[in-house]
Amino acid sequence: MPINVFVPKFHTDEILEHMRECLDRGWTGLGFKTIDFENAWKDYTGLPNAHYMCSNTVGLHLALNVLKKKHGWKDGDEVISTPLTFVSTNHAILYEHLKPVFADVDEYLCLDPVDIEEKITERTRAVMFVGMGGNSGRLTEVAELCSQKGLVLVLDAAHMAGTRLNGKHVGSEGEVAIFSFQAVKNLPTGDSGMVCFMDEELDKQARKLSWMGISKDTYQRFNTQKGSYRWRYDVPELGFKYHGNSIMASIGIVQLKYVDEDNAYRRKLAAQYDDLLAEVPQVEIVPTAPNCETSRHLYQICVPQRDEVMQHFYENDIYPGVHYVENTEYPMYAYGAGTCARAAEYASRLISLPLHLRVTTEDVEKVVSVLRSFSFYR
Ligand SMILES: Cc1ncc(COP(=O)(O)O)c(C=O)c1O
Repeated sequence: MPINVFVPKFHTDEILEHMRECLDRGWTGLGFKTIDFENAWKDYTGLPNAHYMCSNTVGLHLALNVLKKKHGWKDGDEVISTPLTFVSTNHAILYEHLKPVFADVDEYLCLDPVDIEEKITERTRAVMFVGMGGNSGRLTEVAELCSQKGLVLVLDAAHMAGTRLNGKHVGSEGEVAIFSFQAVKNLPTGDSGMVCFMDEELDKQARKLSWMGISKDTYQRFNTQKGSYRWRYDVPELGFKYHGNSIMASIGIVQLKYVDEDNAYRRKLAAQYDDLLAEVPQVEIVPTAPNCETSRHLYQICVPQRDEVMQHFYENDIYPGVHYVENTEYPMYAYGAGTCARAAEYASRLISLPLHLRVTTEDVEKVVSVLRSFSFYR
């Protein structure tokens, strides 16, 4: 059996019950299960607001759209971001005609507050922090820096479903946090996400914009106007088709019930990797920040001769991942090449080892023994 980097595991029968309710009732869209999921997510995280989206990517875009209007940012204003991320993080900044300015990462592969400070200019408006692999890195310091400098903190929490910092679920450190429930995340659906604003007014604004800028959604019109559908609505603003639906939410509601148990299993495997890899001198393990109970979306190591090591894994039916190609290697971010030496250096050595709920302790042993059998030059 191949050992892959990610394979999601679903509680199929329980999910199908929720989906059946949607189908029987004739309600698969926005409303009904999306509301239940938003409420369950707020209960779970303790965050004050949660709006269910069809992906994290659109949530990032919507968050920046709302914040740009609120704070009166202009096109070309700068958002400090990481080059070591999935491109959604930085594309979302470009969608709003803002400019990603790259700061370097620290040993946790998250933005380094020291380099953020270096990169602040007169046009800096916000910092986009990515909790890499579920790690909180120096998020608390970054939040403090943002408040000192009057910058907005946006948390791309795509990997952070279940991450706790000092015992509290992450998400309230900045003005908004955006989670991903994409197909291989710790809380997998098919595709969806949650945008969580601290300010209720911004949450209300986001809700209008996520369904084309229409003043009232269909579910509200159906359910609050004497139980029958009313056709009339207004469109005061230009919005997007970004909201989530009840079929995806049916998956999310069920998977959420198990996310803590699932993440504990991931951490158990990670601890086993830590122990076994401590014996392999060529391997550098990416540490978890102190006081962080990580979701453990990823188990990342750095090795010399990374591409050859990957080939060696493939030959042994093991398929790790790489998170990520440093974004300044892509044409639209090439202007930032050479500005983040550490991110570029890490990106050339990173590997994400298989870590998911179908990986067994025997699989972990096999992955490590295959890695040990590679002939490193040094
Ligand atoms: C760091 C990061 N940000 C954003 C995203 C985008 O999430 P989604 O696929 O839900 O749009 C992802 C993953 O896919 C990610 O890994």
